[in-house]
Amino acid sequence: MSSQDRVIIFDTTLRDGEQSPGASMTRDEKLRIARQLERMRVDVIEAGFAIASVGDFESVQAIARTIKESTVCSLSRALDADIDRAGEALRDANSGRIHTFIATSPIHMKYKLQMEPDQVVESAVRAVKRARNLIDDVEFSLEDASRSEMDFMCRIIERVIDAGARTINIPDTVGYAVPQQFGQVIGELIQRIPNADKAIFSVHCHNDLGLAVANSLAAVSAGARQVECTINGLGERAGNASLEEIVMALRTRRDVMGVETSIDTTQIVPASRLVSSVTGFPVQPNKAIVGANAFAHESGIHQDGVLKHRETYEIMTAQDVGWNTNRMVLGKHSGRAAFRARLEELGTSFATDAELNTAFTRFKELADKKHEIFDEDLMALVSDARAEA
Ligand code: KIV
Ligand code: ZN
Repeated sequence: MSSQDRVIIFDTTLRDGEQSPGASMTRDEKLRIARQLERMRVDVIEAGFAIASVGDFESVQAIARTIKESTVCSLSRALDADIDRAGEALRDANSGRIHTFIATSPIHMKYKLQMEPDQVVESAVRAVKRARNLIDDVEFSLEDASRSEMDFMCRIIERVIDAGARTINIPDTVGYAVPQQFGQVIGELIQRIPNADKAIFSVHCHNDLGLAVANSLAAVSAGARQVECTINGLGERAGNASLEEIVMALRTRRDVMGVETSIDTTQIVPASRLVSSVTGFPVQPNKAIVGANAFAHESGIHQDGVLKHRETYEIMTAQDVGWNTNRMVLGKHSGRAAFRARLEELGTSFATDAELNTAFTRFKELADKKHEIFDEDLMALVSDARAEA
């Protein structure tokens, strides 16, 4: 797989994900998640924001000392003290990265930073150089890039690449982008910046309009080769692009996307469950890939189709993403085929069609009263039907 065919998966569950209100994690919880991310073969784990607190520093340090296969990263503002603290936390890492950022949109520069654009450029260059003195692998982010001016982004990116940034991250900080336009922005940056080939372009999309995954995929189509994402889409406000959706979209639609990741997809569901149990954030049942219903079929037409040929209604296998199996849920929309198949799995068959018909009629009556029919319900109604037939 050449680097052009490969998308780097940068997981920020432990940093941006932890910025979900109510999702803060202890050092040990972060370590457990980091180990699972490494098992899943995530390329880069953003372990925290070393200067944010002593706890965050210790978490980044512990993860940097433990994780061997993934690069471990700490966030830092474009400030000397932040960069030095990140470097210190990462000192023992097998492979470490400092991720430094500064806002580049007119509204952030004027009201938040209260800096002139030229000062922002100089701060960015200084930060990248300082980080490069501590570590080889430096990422630079243009905060609020999707509301920044194209000419200004080109200017600052060219300078930070010259200063030694290896990865240039274009965040859609406030989830403002829409896919086609965001893809065009990424394509134009790569095409216009003279030294663009010296860095990997990355995206970091927030989900305020529910478009984080779509925007990330549009960016990949335009040449981005790193995607920043989180397990279960956790993150500030409406969250970040969800790792499971990005990875499975790239894999399932490789025919159109033309790229691969290194992720062991069978570790996705275990990672989702771990993050959900650690943070206490439940996964909605209809969440793509990791929701309890993602591989469950209820309607009779769908169940009959899947029993005849799985691919009639499934585009991935449940096992590919770490579930044990797909599921036929017996409810009021289910048909005779799924009803009979489930009973056969339970070791029950019918001596006569009359027996099957009576049991199926009783099943439909019960299904009108209950959301889901469980195996115990089935066994009870079969013995009633037998007694009656
Ligand atoms: O959303 C954002 O802009 C960020 C940056 C710090 C990368 O999280
Ligand atoms: Zn973010």
